[in-house]
Amino acid sequence: MSHDWESIERRIRESASSSWLTEGMKGSLLLDYEDRGLMSPVIASHKLHHLADRAGGVVSLSAGSQIGRMPPEVAVRATHDALEAGYVGFPSSLGYREFRQAIARKLRRENGIAAGPDSEIIPTVGAQAVLDGTIRILVDKGDDVLLIDPEYASIEPLVAMAGGRVIRVPLRYDRKAQAWSFDPDEVGRRVTPRTKLFIMSNGNNPAGLLYTREQLAAIGDLARRHDFFILSDEEYERLVFDGQTHTSMAALTGMMERTITAMSFSKAYVMTGFRIGFMVAPAAIVDHMAQIVRFAVQAAPSLSQRAAMAVLDSDVSAWLAGSLRELESKRDYGLGRLRGLPGVTCASPSGCYFLFPHFDLGMSSQALAEYLITEGKVSTLPGHMFGPTGEGHLRVSFCVPQAQLAEGLDRLEAAVRRLTVGGRTSG
Ligand SMILES: Cc1ncc(COP(=O)(O)O)c(C=O)c1O
Repeated sequence: MSHDWESIERRIRESASSSWLTEGMKGSLLLDYEDRGLMSPVIASHKLHHLADRAGGVVSLSAGSQIGRMPPEVAVRATHDALEAGYVGFPSSLGYREFRQAIARKLRRENGIAAGPDSEIIPTVGAQAVLDGTIRILVDKGDDVLLIDPEYASIEPLVAMAGGRVIRVPLRYDRKAQAWSFDPDEVGRRVTPRTKLFIMSNGNNPAGLLYTREQLAAIGDLARRHDFFILSDEEYERLVFDGQTHTSMAALTGMMERTITAMSFSKAYVMTGFRIGFMVAPAAIVDHMAQIVRFAVQAAPSLSQRAAMAVLDSDVSAWLAGSLRELESKRDYGLGRLRGLPGVTCASPSGCYFLFPHFDLGMSSQALAEYLITEGKVSTLPGHMFGPTGEGHLRVSFCVPQAQLAEGLDRLEAAVRRLTVGGRTSG
């Protein structure tokens, strides 16, 4: 089998045109981005991995999970204890009852959500499984799904697999103010008679935007008026900077009954590999999610449920505060470095550990990301992977050790300066 990029790409495209492949799977490759002159985000991801493997010695600023940190000690201990106590069989598809009860207490305490542990909460394989399950439960062929743009890159392929049509709701980036903003009227203007679901991550990955209570209430009003559900992906709800507050959609009056909330232990507690998260939703949705959990994966992992329960039952606030301080300091460092570059502006993220700088260098995000890997030996993600509005941006992780961040930004800076000196931008 040949391993040059052209043959890999040919294989991806050939397999996408197989007569036996479902339309949903074909759609999930997002080849329609090519109609806008953008590379399919899925092919882009394959290509960047390929280039990084070939280049060797690439410093990664493209990570999606915290590198170089461990979960809180209590989670590590609980994992060992659970193993020794024999938690090695199938848990129920509904998860351990004590865990669901601990989640219900957390939701009341931290989020102001009143959810019944035996009917409105179910542990899942990360928040990712909530996204997948919700879309499978709610979206039929021909349904419209309103999706924030830019948005977490896994969502659009999932909607495509279900046969839904994505209608993008753009966030706005103001280069002068170096800030992202959101106008709920943009949602209202795009509602159709087939709108079934509105999907958002709060804080937004990749832009780091946190939504205000007023903005959430305005979306909620639209959902009630036009009768659609809301999938609120709250993966980053505990990673909120500058003392800001995160508001959960389901905490707003009357919104629990039409909101599906995805939460996780992956990001705040450095437990990505544990694959543990949960869905909070009306009982009828949770019932269907239990079917999906049962038939797709049997149950969320037993050891991970015990570890996550230990986190919820302990006071990890000092640990989390330390984590946030460290991330804030890396964010500010990265922001300073990027804002100092010619042709670059960058918003300060409030609610996730990525920077999403805009590059005015006269080249596409994809071309820039490829150039940075091959010539600069540093990997980032091109912004269009998160939706067309992300074009012009790169996603840069700051959830890596400080030395890695500094080295990656040194390389990025040197490569960008070579471009600007070469006359490819006005600076
Ligand atoms: C916004 C968002 N939602 C969901 C996920 C899924 O994470 P997990 O399944 O580990 O909870 C991620 C992971 O990067 C994410 O960034």
